[in-house]
Amino acid sequence: MEVIIQPNAAAATRLVARLIAKALRQNPGLVLGLATGRTMEQVYALLADMHKEEGLDFARCRTFNLDEYAGLPPEDNHSYRFYMNHHLFAKVNIDRRNTHLPDGMADDLDAACIRYEQAIQEAGGIDFQLLGIGHDGHIGFNEPLSALRSRTRVKVLTPQTMAANGPLFDGRERMPRRALTMGVGTILDSKRCVLLAAGTAKADILAKAVEGPITAMVSASALQLHPHCTIVVDEEAAARLEGKDYYRFVFRNEPEWQEFQ
Ligand code: GLP
Repeated sequence: MEVIIQPNAAAATRLVARLIAKALRQNPGLVLGLATGRTMEQVYALLADMHKEEGLDFARCRTFNLDEYAGLPPEDNHSYRFYMNHHLFAKVNIDRRNTHLPDGMADDLDAACIRYEQAIQEAGGIDFQLLGIGHDGHIGFNEPLSALRSRTRVKVLTPQTMAANGPLFDGRERMPRRALTMGVGTILDSKRCVLLAAGTAKADILAKAVEGPITAMVSASALQLHPHCTIVVDEEAAARLEGKDYYRFVFRNEPEWQEFQ
């Protein structure tokens, strides 16, 4: 795991967008794992700009989102399908048939989860997985006590997640209590993970995830097991990290990061 600290949220977001763009340029058929949430909106805005201004090409890119609410149709503006269409897919030259989210409207949600795992496998696995972190340490919707080897399945959301995401719904009671999410094991199978976090509200949970023990109570801590995981944070989210000096030294001195200075 490596940690990159940027001066502010805008710089952290820009760095993540550039990492995705670089991966896509190196491999135009990239299988890209995508995340939702407020933190990601600006990442997608930057990718849309790069498409428009630099011709960043999504024509052969395939995407798999981490999660989707149960029971929200794609046209519901709170569904993650709607979010993705709005923030990214409508703004770049991606073929919608190559974009995938778990089917939260399936009659049989368990079967939909199995199909999702199969689709990821048939695509050859995820090359680059973008991640945020929830206030309770979730990645995707892997709430506390998610098995560290879990696969895509239905999860019941915690009161903390309901409180964090509820305000995004008009009327908190409209927020689904369940979601379909890639498992921690699914995420760990990706070839590369990049987690973006910004703001003071994420500082405590980020320190637990990065420097604390690996525990199912904090799903993001499982990323410590991933062979190629980069955590990109702003100063505020980095506030509780103990190893800041070392992380800064690596970013300033390692050749792979020179182009991002
Ligand atoms: C949701 C998503 C997560 C995301 C989290 C953080 O719960 N399921 O994948 O990481 O939101 O959201 P925000 O960026 O709004 O803090």
